[in-house]
Amino acid sequence: MSFHHPSFGTIADDRVIIFDTTLRDGEQSPGFSMNLEEKLRMAHALSNLGVDVIEAGFPVASEGDFESVRRIAEEVRGSVICGLARSGGKRDIESCGEALKKAERPRIHNFISTSPLHMKYKLRMEPETVLEIIASGNQKARQFTDDVEWSAEDGSRTDPDFLCRCVEVAIRNGANTINIPDTVGFATPEEMRAIFTMLRERVPGADQVIFSAHNHNDLGLGVANTLASVEGGARQIECTINGIGERAGNAALEEIVMALRTRHDQYGKTTGIETTKLLGMSRMLATITGFDVQPNKAIVGRNAFAHESGIHQDGILKNAATYEIMTPESVGWNKTSLVMGKHSGRAAFRDKLAQLGYPPLEDEALNAAFARFKDLADSKKVVFDDDIRALVDDESRDHER
Ligand code: KIV
Ligand code: ZN
Repeated sequence: MSFHHPSFGTIADDRVIIFDTTLRDGEQSPGFSMNLEEKLRMAHALSNLGVDVIEAGFPVASEGDFESVRRIAEEVRGSVICGLARSGGKRDIESCGEALKKAERPRIHNFISTSPLHMKYKLRMEPETVLEIIASGNQKARQFTDDVEWSAEDGSRTDPDFLCRCVEVAIRNGANTINIPDTVGFATPEEMRAIFTMLRERVPGADQVIFSAHNHNDLGLGVANTLASVEGGARQIECTINGIGERAGNAALEEIVMALRTRHDQYGKTTGIETTKLLGMSRMLATITGFDVQPNKAIVGRNAFAHESGIHQDGILKNAATYEIMTPESVGWNKTSLVMGKHSGRAAFRDKLAQLGYPPLEDEALNAAFARFKDLADSKKVVFDDDIRALVDDESRDHER
C-alpha cells in the first residue's frame, strides 16, 4: 500500500516522513531561543540532512517568529516548510499563510486541544465547539495551501470516541496529515500503538491521510512511544535535534532515525536522513544554543562510542560488533574511541602504544609499563595520550640506566 500526498506525491509504504520541529517546539525549551541568522543556518542544515518537513516557527507568536518563518520559506529549498497556527486563533492561519508565501512547498499546521481537561480548563469550550473550530481551521488553511496538518493537542489523553470524531472532521475539511501528540509525555508505548491502530481502523477516510506521532519525553519515553506509534501505523515522526523541547523535551531525531535503521528487521521502515551528518547537526545546535548534550547521550554524546572497560576494549579490538550496534562513522564520528582508564586492559594498552607510534615492547617491558599505567589510572579519571607517552618514556629511561 502507498500514500499520495500533495507535497510528496506517492510515498512508499516503507518510508517514514521526518518532521523536524527543533525551530518551533525545540525553541520552546527555556534558554534555547535562536535569532534569525541562527535559525536560517539551522534550517539550511536540516534540509541538507534530509529532513522532509521543517517546522520553522509559529508566525503569529511574534514579529521575530514571523520573519524567521518568512525568510526560511524564501531561502530554504528541498524540504517542506511548515508554520504552526492555532485552529481557532484570530489571525494565526492568515499570518502563517502570509509567512509561507514564498515557500517551494508550504504546510500549515493547525492545532486545538481535544482532551476533557484541556477543553474544560484551558479552552473553556464545549466539545461541539471544538469540532466546529477543527472544521473551520482546516478549511481556512486550505485557502493558502493544499498541504494541511491538523493536531489534536493532548491527543493521547483524549476520549477515544471523541478523538475519532475530531479526526474524521479534520479529514473531511481538508487535512491530509493528522498528528496525535502525547503533549505531556504521559502515554506508554502500548497506548500510543493502540491509538494509531484504532484511528486507522475506525475513522472514515483514514487511508487517505498520513498519521503523525509527536511524543514528549516527560517520562523518558519519547523515542519508545514514537517507535510504537510507527508500529501502530504512524508514517510521520515529529522530533527535534538532541531531543530539545518543552520541559523534558521531544523525541530525539538522531535516536529515532538510528533505531529505525539499526532495527530495520523490527520496523521495516526507512527515512531520507543522511545519517553521517547527524553528529555535525547535533554539534551545530549545541554551539548555537550554548547547551551541550550529556556525555552518555545516545548517538551524539561524546561517550556514545567510547569504551573503557578492559573486557569491552579487548572485544572491540577483535571485532567491533561485539560491543557496537552501529559504526561510529555511520553517524559522523571518526572512529571508536578506546578511553584509557583504570578499567582498561593490556590489549587496549598495547594497541594504544602502537597508535602512538611505539615499536612493540618485549613482554617484560610491556608488563612494567602496564603496571605503571594502572597505578596512574587509579589516581586519574582519564589517562591522556601524553600521560602514556611520559610513562613509557620514563620506563625506557629507567631500563637504560
Ligand atoms: O506537544 C504538542 O501538543 C504540540 C502541538 C502544538 C503539536 O507541540
Ligand atoms: Zn509538542
